[in-house]
Amino acid sequence: MDSLLIRGGRKLVGEIEVSGSKNIALAVLSSIVLAEEPVLLRNVPNISDTRIKTKLLEIFGAKVEWMGTDVLVDCSNLVAGEPDEEMVRAIRTSFYMIGPLVARLGTLKMPAPGGCKIGARPVDLHLKGLHLLGAKITLDGGIYTATQKKLKGTEVYLDKPSAGATQHIMSTAARAEGTTIINNAAMEPEITALADFLNRIGASIEGAGTPKITIIGKRSLGGGDYKIPADRIQAGTFLLAGAITGGDVTIRNILPEDQTALVNKMREAGAFVDEGVDWVRIGAPSRLNGVNVTTMPHPGFPTDMQQPMAATLCVAEGTSIIEETIYESRTGHIMELNRMGAQIRQESGSAVIQGVESLRGATVYASDLRAGAALCLAGLVAEGETHVRNIHFIDRGYEAIESTLNALGADVQRVTESELVKVR
Ligand code: EPZ
Repeated sequence: MDSLLIRGGRKLVGEIEVSGSKNIALAVLSSIVLAEEPVLLRNVPNISDTRIKTKLLEIFGAKVEWMGTDVLVDCSNLVAGEPDEEMVRAIRTSFYMIGPLVARLGTLKMPAPGGCKIGARPVDLHLKGLHLLGAKITLDGGIYTATQKKLKGTEVYLDKPSAGATQHIMSTAARAEGTTIINNAAMEPEITALADFLNRIGASIEGAGTPKITIIGKRSLGGGDYKIPADRIQAGTFLLAGAITGGDVTIRNILPEDQTALVNKMREAGAFVDEGVDWVRIGAPSRLNGVNVTTMPHPGFPTDMQQPMAATLCVAEGTSIIEETIYESRTGHIMELNRMGAQIRQESGSAVIQGVESLRGATVYASDLRAGAALCLAGLVAEGETHVRNIHFIDRGYEAIESTLNALGADVQRVTESELVKVR
């Protein structure tokens, strides 16, 4: 298993771009089975999650050709494949393929999903919407069976503004007969991007990015080409890499409005933030001041930035309180950060961080994708060497994270188990 060796103490300075968005790419790769003609996707992140997703598409008969970050996907002839349970468990959004696939195939089986262990991650809202659209979905022995004779437009209220359920229902409704309205829809940028993609291949969706989305179903959807927008969470992570090291980092070719919650919080913490049409720059003093953070559905502070933000606040001046309201156990980073000398205690659903002057390098274990990113940020500022293990979690969402960090002046080395013996 690969791991990262990080030698801390260097300010990160410079300008970078980030890859296409993992979560938009996964949303598009779930609903692309609706396209009955070839689709050319551009700027697709080359990460383990997207690679697994395209293998899943091939099991259902899609033809997939990777050409760098361009991916040609032809779903004109689909079959009711039987995907391997291990493969499906690897990524949660395999579940989001059920609605679009049953719209095309009429019946299919799909193992229940997996994904980062950050909470129970129920799918009740997905199932509520699919049932209202006319799909019959049962679960037996960890395998979902979905069937439908006719999908009909409906009105659905989401008890929680679930990003996944909104994506899943929106894409399935694109092929239902009649109009569907989703109330209390999620407003994450991933929803807006997915609606843009679906409209590009012939769907008729309005209101994405607002709490009410209206979808007029079509008999079939065609092909086209679509560029995946930049990854807002990668951008936020690398902005924080600049901030935690007292550096000065600019991320280019991104949507600054996707960073609004983060940059305002960082200004509160004493960072300098500037932004232009398609870039954001963050500079920080040698020590930030503590702030309180509450994660909320978009446009609130994004839950995916919670763990990297916690790492950043470990070395800020004073006390910070982080309240995670989206996932009940997105806490895998806390024990590991405390091993590095952080002072974080958990108090009724919140993390109370007592800022310390410095962290010390240690061997730490990533427990999920964003916890892994948090440990990398901590390693950048820790004295000595930090060894981050289980970095397969990080590779799910960051393409070669060590290359990006080193391009900003960090000293990060990816080592295999055997190399580790030599390096130590
Ligand atoms: C997506 O997950 C992202 N994953 C997550 O990013 C992100 O944290 C999350 O949206 C929120 O923004 C992908 O896009 C692949 P949800 P998803 O449905 O779709 C509850 C990362 O690090 N809920 O909005 O699973 C659920 O328990 C990942 O890149 C229900 O109760 O998010 C959770 O508390 C992690 N019933 C909350 O909603 C449902 O049917 C958020 O879930 C569905 C969800």
